[in-house]
Amino acid sequence: MNTVEPRAPWSPQSWRQFPAAQMPRYADASALDGALRQLQGWPPLIFAGEAATLRQRLADVAHGDAFLLQGGDCAESFEDLRTEAVRDSFRVILQMAVLLTFAAACPVVKVGRIAGQFAKPRSSEVESDGTLTLPSYRGDIVNGAEFSADAREPDPQRLLRAYSHSAAALNLLRALAQGGFADLHEVHRWTADFVRRSPQGERFEAVAQSIGEALAFMEACGFDARRTPQVKEVEFFTSHEALHLHYEEALTRRDESTGRCYGGSAHMLWLGERTRALDGAHVEFLRGIDNPLGIKLGPSATGEDVLRLLDALDPDNAPGRIVLITRMGAETLAERLPALIETVQRAQRTVVWCCDPMHGNTVTTASGYKTRDFRRILAEVRSFFAVHAAAGSYAGGVHFEMTGQDVTECTGGAQGLTEAALSERYHTACDPRLNGSQSLELAFLIAETLKARRRGA
Ligand code: PEP
Ligand code: CO
Repeated sequence: MNTVEPRAPWSPQSWRQFPAAQMPRYADASALDGALRQLQGWPPLIFAGEAATLRQRLADVAHGDAFLLQGGDCAESFEDLRTEAVRDSFRVILQMAVLLTFAAACPVVKVGRIAGQFAKPRSSEVESDGTLTLPSYRGDIVNGAEFSADAREPDPQRLLRAYSHSAAALNLLRALAQGGFADLHEVHRWTADFVRRSPQGERFEAVAQSIGEALAFMEACGFDARRTPQVKEVEFFTSHEALHLHYEEALTRRDESTGRCYGGSAHMLWLGERTRALDGAHVEFLRGIDNPLGIKLGPSATGEDVLRLLDALDPDNAPGRIVLITRMGAETLAERLPALIETVQRAQRTVVWCCDPMHGNTVTTASGYKTRDFRRILAEVRSFFAVHAAAGSYAGGVHFEMTGQDVTECTGGAQGLTEAALSERYHTACDPRLNGSQSLELAFLIAETLKARRRGA
């Protein structure tokens, strides 16, 4: 048996004693301190009670009584803070959730990669255009995407802009979730025009019709849907990768009722594939906050890695605390996942298992576009369900990169998007996202799988 050295006491700053991968280096330390002090004085974006509610919802998922749907941009950008962009992503997630709830009669926990997903890990420190070599773009919270020395210099003022953008997006999301837009009676209005014309739009319309009829039936029986919060509003949570530890530290708050700390930047935070080193700063920071945590697991992750991370981040084995997000690639998943599941089962750990079918399936085309083939995305999702079913484990959720906009970033799908068409509307600030139509297509596939699982097929 391995003996594990006990860790020194945690504090919001204790991560600074550990090696921190993927962090920007700021030239002006006092400008950074000034920005951080400002953030420390501002209100948290979410409150401890909300993070605790999400933990309860995720505990339901861990026990096999609900399904997790987590999605949004790979990287949000400051430019994209438009009402339509936020609303369109939100409504595609709603559409996907309603399809899953309706098909599988299974509650869906909705978590956006939104209102704070501004920091990006990079495989390379630098980027070159052949003549010029510059620091890589690390997300709008750090530097600018434009290929110039000026834009690529990390700027602490961006931390404050990230906070303001997150606050504005979150305010809009809260209004959309609770102010009538998400009312199930409005289900017909959630379809964007470009999706309405696609085969997925027609399929969705048929489901919307059935939901309308079900509501009318319930109302005719005397059920007062208009006064029922579950019909009128939705619970929607935010999440992002807890990459930028200065930012996360500055938004850490103590919950007065429990005396414990929580991350105030989003309901759920996750540890990326490149920042999950057991002895690294990111694990150290996350172990001390009470929010639910995701852990991305790529093809190199071993059962031993997973157990040690669980010991560090979830010593009490509390259901709802940890979401293991596998992102291995369509073929590799079936080879690697069974051993991880077996290890977790043997250790009698209760976790949510979630499938990210995006990050193991990225390729670059001859013309230089990063893309993902929709068939491979679907293949990884199918494999995820099949491997869990064979192991007697509960496949609890999916995590994907999408936008409500009509982009051309991932190839394939019912629209038959070709490599040649990628250049038409390729807008992502980082990785290629599913568009609204492809997202719905994915949701239909998952809905069918959940339905079959419910029937025991
Ligand atoms: C991401 O989710 O955008 C990401 C970078 O993922 P990973 O850490 O799994 O590579
Ligand atoms: Co990504």
